[in-house]
Amino acid sequence: MFPEVTRDDVFRLETQRLWLRWPRAADAAAIARLAGDPDIALNSTHIPHPYEIHHADAFIVSARAENAAGAGLVLALTFKRQPKEPIGMVGLHGAPDRGEAMFGFWLGKPFWGQGLMTEAAAAFTDLVFGVTSLGRIASAALPTNAASWRVHEKLGFLPLGRSVVSAPARGGDVAVERFELRRAAAPTPFGARRPRVTSA
Ligand SMILES: CC(C)(COP(=O)(O)OP(=O)(O)OC[C@H]1O[C@@H](n2cnc3c(N)ncnc32)[C@H](O)[C@@H]1OP(=O)(O)O)[C@@H](O)C(=O)NCCC(=O)NCCS
Repeated sequence: MFPEVTRDDVFRLETQRLWLRWPRAADAAAIARLAGDPDIALNSTHIPHPYEIHHADAFIVSARAENAAGAGLVLALTFKRQPKEPIGMVGLHGAPDRGEAMFGFWLGKPFWGQGLMTEAAAAFTDLVFGVTSLGRIASAALPTNAASWRVHEKLGFLPLGRSVVSAPARGGDVAVERFELRRAAAPTPFGARRPRVTSA
């Protein structure tokens, strides 16, 4: 799904305040600490709780394999001044069985409410439409997750209604609101300041 440029771990995406880069083995402790907060895990369909270091290790290995294969793209968010410290994650995972690509994101709780996920996710969805031939990006959120709904809305995603999905990390089937972002509706929230892609 993704081309050569994103399949190398030197790939970077720059926004106003952030770098988005491949997750690394050294990120495991920070990811486990941040994603271990119940307000992260329990607002997602796929993050286990409790979330231990071995979950983070396995996630990083899997994300890097997915990135290298071009089957998806998972990037860690870092402040530009602290590029070694991940503060959250965005990812697009191929789901060929359903003929779609699923978007997901989380941000460490200390960093909420500053527009950071909207900034990162807007750059990321712009990148996806820029480097793949996907016509749409699919996403979903728990019906109670107002912050996620608002992020989707700000990015231009449209709600498609509820459906039930299998969520082993939540103990079984859960109802979610489905969203989609169509290529033609992809926003350019930074106007002429398009996100910069680097590979060196
Ligand atoms: C969802 C999440 C990524 C948002 O990150 P963030 O950087 O705080 O998001 P932003 O600041 O860009 O935007 C959040 C928006 O939600 C709004 N919001 C936050 N909490 C809200 C609530 N309880 N009710 C209504 N709106 C809310 C904010 O006011 C803001 O909207 P605004 O810019 O119009 O004021 C973060 O809360 C998170 O990681 N949550 C847990 C994991 C998760 O839900 N992941 C998504 C799974 S689908």
